[in-house]
Amino acid sequence: MSQDSIAVASSVDGNSSSEGRGLWSSRWVFFLAATGSAVGLGNIWKFPYITGENGGGAFVLVYLACILVIGIPLLMAEVMIGRRGRANPEGAFALLAKVAGASRHWRWLGTVAVLTGFLILSFYAVVAGWALDYAPAALSGGFAGLDGESSGALFGALLADPWKLAGYGSLVLALTLGIVGLGVREGLERSLRFLMPGLFVLLLILVGYAATTGHFMQAVHFLFDADFSKLGGQGVLVALGHAFFTLSLASGAMMVYGSYLPAGTSIARTSLLVALADTLVALLAGLAIFPLVFANGLEPGAGPGLIFVTLPIAFGQMPLGQLVGGLFFIMLAIAALTSAISLSEPTIAWLSEKFGISRFKAVLLSGVALWLLSLGTVFSFNAWSEITLFGKTFFDSLDYLTTNLMMPLGGLGTVLFTGWALSRKTVQEALGIEQPQLFGLWWQLLRWLTPLGILIVFLHTLGLF
Ligand code: PHE
Repeated sequence: MSQDSIAVASSVDGNSSSEGRGLWSSRWVFFLAATGSAVGLGNIWKFPYITGENGGGAFVLVYLACILVIGIPLLMAEVMIGRRGRANPEGAFALLAKVAGASRHWRWLGTVAVLTGFLILSFYAVVAGWALDYAPAALSGGFAGLDGESSGALFGALLADPWKLAGYGSLVLALTLGIVGLGVREGLERSLRFLMPGLFVLLLILVGYAATTGHFMQAVHFLFDADFSKLGGQGVLVALGHAFFTLSLASGAMMVYGSYLPAGTSIARTSLLVALADTLVALLAGLAIFPLVFANGLEPGAGPGLIFVTLPIAFGQMPLGQLVGGLFFIMLAIAALTSAISLSEPTIAWLSEKFGISRFKAVLLSGVALWLLSLGTVFSFNAWSEITLFGKTFFDSLDYLTTNLMMPLGGLGTVLFTGWALSRKTVQEALGIEQPQLFGLWWQLLRWLTPLGILIVFLHTLGLF
């Protein structure tokens, strides 16, 4: 791949003109970057624990339906808007609205998306820090002989230590913004190239190990037997929110990556592949983790600590567990980093293009703000754990606000904008699907089923459906 393949991560100077923004060198690089964005903590950390909290199979089924009916059509729309607009999310919405003669207020959807990504990154970095803490612990044999109780205590000790949490969280932020701002030209592409296959192989090893513990079938039943009596209204909203989160939607990430996509690439095919890879990783993570949860008498609904409590038990017992465990947490940290990079890029592009400041300044500015905000998440696990709003800590509130409210509502806005404010002709040209039937299918889905799906989930959650 050529030197300038990662234009996103490499340009240091402020580019306010679309010509100077740079492009991915190929469709393959875009696919890697988009998959790198999608696959992250959402798949391996969040999916298992929210599945556990929401009773298993029925939740998984609703989540998969949301990916299919809402996530994939919206992913295509976002990449299309980015590529057509060739600007940060706000700029892209503004341009397309202008072309369509629609209200200029649509651009607020872009601003809110940028804000969503920014807020998410502030807690995402802290959680990614947990993986950084666990990698050396695994490599040095720190998990030997752990059982459910001692593993829980180990994780509890990490959460209780604000210095450690803030230290690792700051490191993640520094790495993320360092890559985005100073431009390690091929860093992103190179790490993605070995990361994706590597992560996949490690997950397969873990699934293989989990399958031999004897509680595999219980996990399979838990994940795939849909018992809707276990899924409350909130659970349906969580499934919808997670479909957005895991595909990096409604946060500017896919849109800004789309804005660096060369013309002529099939958005439809790439989006489908990204969604497929993302879903596969999440299901594998579930199959690796739940057999261990059941085998060790742990609680599936234990919450955000689930993988950090279950997996170390396995690493402490399995042959080569030190190495496998170390590699696993390193890979998880890198997977989180490639997602974090995509979470930060919309803010950087927005700041530098809207206010005409250099990328370097934009990085510094957002870095300071992100760091301060990340402390809120850090303290919500210790000093501020008693301070709650509607029974939620700072971290829980931020997660709920962004993932379950801002993302679905922002996504709804984007769908309505694409399907109803833009003309069919504009969209067809911008998307570049050659087969008219395929385009027609997507277009109808996007105009009707996708927005209705989001609305139904909201009404259901409010108890009105
Ligand atoms: N999709 C990423 C994950 O699953 C998180 C993310 C959300 C990244 C939004 C970018 C934008 O971990």
